[in-house]
Amino acid sequence: MRIYLTWLLSLCIISGPYGYAEWEPDYLISSGLISGEHRQDLENKSFQRLKSFILKYSKDGWCSSEKANLLMDLIVLQRPMICVEIGVYEGFTLIPIAAALKHLHHGGTIYAIDPWSNNEAIRWMTKDSADRAWWGSVDLERVYRSFLDKLGDIIGDSYCKVVRQTSESAAAGIGSIDFLHLDGNLGAEGAIIDAALYLPKVKKGGYILVSNILHTIGEQQPRLEAFSRALDDCEIICGVDSSNSVLLRKL
Ligand SMILES: C[S@@+](CC[C@H](N)C(=O)[O-])C[C@H]1O[C@@H](n2cnc3c(N)ncnc32)[C@H](O)[C@@H]1O
Repeated sequence: MRIYLTWLLSLCIISGPYGYAEWEPDYLISSGLISGEHRQDLENKSFQRLKSFILKYSKDGWCSSEKANLLMDLIVLQRPMICVEIGVYEGFTLIPIAAALKHLHHGGTIYAIDPWSNNEAIRWMTKDSADRAWWGSVDLERVYRSFLDKLGDIIGDSYCKVVRQTSESAAAGIGSIDFLHLDGNLGAEGAIIDAALYLPKVKKGGYILVSNILHTIGEQQPRLEAFSRALDDCEIICGVDSSNSVLLRKL
């Protein structure tokens, strides 16, 4: 399975801007991979202004412009009602999603699930890795407060429900999902648990972004196994950040 996945991801990377590797709404609409019903809404002037503001904001964090574009466009094109992000950190990917939901103002909400806890962050990580040392000591209390401040400043009180729990304990409170962003625990087992608990909740035709698939700890890429499980029930739509994040659609 590993060999197959590595081959598949290499193919995505090689196919570059001409294949399904990139977020290109018109290409994906013409291929039937994304609905074109709301295509014109991407041209809306206030959405364009919002996007350039949010893209500048995300640039300072872990969310590339390519990824912020995908997240915001996808929300506008698909108009999901229930979105879930597992792994929020300081909100670099959550804020673009919430901003697009606010722009649409169609009743959609995002659940922001993260325990912001050092012990939880390292729970499934292999011992003696640089990642474990970093995640074991980063000031997640400060990160959490900074996220809440930014959420309050940019989005306000609506559109986002903050759930300060692990994905496991939050799962019982989440029903069916229209859009899921999997970016939680960076240990292999944690990522598999997230896939097992949340993928079945995604509606048929719903979208899933799996992030940090190629993130390497030691010699392992802990998210690969969870990603391979997702492929059992999903088709690949496109990849961003050289296929480090891949958008899937539930079959
Ligand atoms: C890679 S960061 C998320 C980055 C964020 N999506 C972004 O792009 O800015 C991973 C996050 O997962 C969170 N996390 C770790 N274990 C978790 C768990 N069991 N459930 C939910 N989140 C978890 C960590 O606290 C951390 O904030």
